[in-house]
Amino acid sequence: MCGIVGYFGDLKATDVILNGLKKLEYRGYDSCGICYHNLNTDRFVTYKDKGRVKHLKHDFDYNGDNHFGIGHTRWATHGAPNHINSHPHSSQSGRFVIVHNGVIENYKELVAKYLSAVYFTSETDTEVIANLIEYFAVSYPVELAIRKALAMLEGSYALLIIDKLNPNIIYAGKNKSPLLLGLRNDGVCLASDLMAFVGVSSEYYVIEDKTFVKAEKVDNEYRFSMYDPIGIEFTPIRHEVSLNDDEINRGGYDHYMLKEICEQPSVIRKIMTNYIKDNRFHIKQDVLDLFANKKRIYILAAGTSMHAGFVGKINFETLTKIPTEVFIASEFAYNKPLLEKEAAFILISQSGETADLRACLVDINKMGYPSLTITNVKTSTLAREATNYLLIHAGPEIAVASTKAYVGQIAVLAILAYVLADNPKIDMIKEMSRLAVAMEAIIDKKEYIHDLVQSHLIKRNCFYIGRGIDYYTSLEAALKLKEISYIQTEGFAAGELKHGTIALIEEDVPVIAIITQRHINKNTRSNIQEVKSRGADVLVISTNDTSEPEDDIILMDVHDLLSPALAVIPTQLIAYYKALDMGKDIDKPRNLAKSVTVE
Ligand code: G6P
Repeated sequence: MCGIVGYFGDLKATDVILNGLKKLEYRGYDSCGICYHNLNTDRFVTYKDKGRVKHLKHDFDYNGDNHFGIGHTRWATHGAPNHINSHPHSSQSGRFVIVHNGVIENYKELVAKYLSAVYFTSETDTEVIANLIEYFAVSYPVELAIRKALAMLEGSYALLIIDKLNPNIIYAGKNKSPLLLGLRNDGVCLASDLMAFVGVSSEYYVIEDKTFVKAEKVDNEYRFSMYDPIGIEFTPIRHEVSLNDDEINRGGYDHYMLKEICEQPSVIRKIMTNYIKDNRFHIKQDVLDLFANKKRIYILAAGTSMHAGFVGKINFETLTKIPTEVFIASEFAYNKPLLEKEAAFILISQSGETADLRACLVDINKMGYPSLTITNVKTSTLAREATNYLLIHAGPEIAVASTKAYVGQIAVLAILAYVLADNPKIDMIKEMSRLAVAMEAIIDKKEYIHDLVQSHLIKRNCFYIGRGIDYYTSLEAALKLKEISYIQTEGFAAGELKHGTIALIEEDVPVIAIITQRHINKNTRSNIQEVKSRGADVLVISTNDTSEPEDDIILMDVHDLLSPALAVIPTQLIAYYKALDMGKDIDKPRNLAKSVTVE
């Protein structure tokens, strides 16, 4: 979702900003733009349009010295993706230029109250902010004008603001949407996420909600100041940038998605290294305390993370015997069920920034429930605002369609349930090691899976079916295929298909059955017969234990509770190769964003 980058320093600003925007592409966007100060002409230049950062980089002229600017990748919310709605946006006189990530909920009220005389060119809420600042700047010094405007905004925003009258300060404000500041001797960089700092800054600061920031050059030194909501300056905590270029490049693969699929065995091993202490799985005591004497666990998540949540539910109920419920975050936020008093919440989010989850967490905190975020990003909003957090150690996941983060989430949930269990009856270290080996074995067969995709007719509506934990894998498998190939696909409980949806089965409709559990093998096989006899083109994914000779993909046996982390891999590869053969933009599928920072 929208990404912002600003830079003021000795390096060429347009290089830093355009490279930063490129690194933020994975968040998902449809338009992009930049505004910078050309030192030679002492003029500001703005380029923006619908389309990719590579066009912004190559189709315009960046000749001349420049050291000061802001840039943006836009994921359309208010108004279509086009030139006019792309950021940066300016105030009516052109004095203030801003980029914005987030949604301003009261922008219409602000227009009615203060800006009825303004002629707006775009449909965006962002242009309202630029004009509100200009409105206050008529009566107040610029800094106060910006702070007055920020104080009136309701909703989410990460904002970079420049005043063309003074190309020596970048102002920033933030509420709910993420914003970080990176500092080095030769400049200050502001960006939506850490990825933009790789190669630019080795240290960074997390900007908290309602903080006002000034990045400037004072006595030949670049510096920043941060102010809390009542205007008191404070010193934030410094963090090290732990990413390097190797972790965020494609490493010889054609797509990040394939690279990330292939990294999954090493993610499992990395998780084991991080969670094993003295030859046993170990979870910090303050996390375990969150679950002490709890009668219920609520898991909240969105998309792929929610599918990991379903697998977590089975792990928790099997190992800890604590009843566990899973909710779609966007539903839970405004339609809460009757809640058990003695309960703990788990929020699962790869990015740690999903706005739907944040809305839930604000309420959970108000209600006084303990919460745990399971995430890939230590400094993320959800990690910071929950009672505690656990990391999935998956490394940066750049393809929009989540793969290695999903298996990382399953593994960490399984370890947590295992450590909390009184008598888990499973040798989790042995089972996880076996899982990593089984993952490697199926990844080694990826070319065979590519052949299968080409010989089966996965070209129109498609079904994944399974029972129990395999049903949850079916949901994730279907999401993966539709996300990147745009083929209408549904994940279905195998036994439920006959209660209506089987009407859609006709000659050559692909049905992919997942069978990793012995106790439901016969039942799912009956469901396979039902669709086969109606002409479906069936493909079966099973394990050594559940297989029949004619099955198409046979996986090594792993523990039932971990099987989704293995069975999902062939389905990720099916999605990948289908999208590849169809010529789709695999790492950046249409309309999707990696980090969904609006509700
Ligand atoms: C977006 C992504 C999905 C992801 C979901 C939840 O919709 O496109 O791939 O599963 O957000 O993201 P999270 O970062 O909270 O896991």
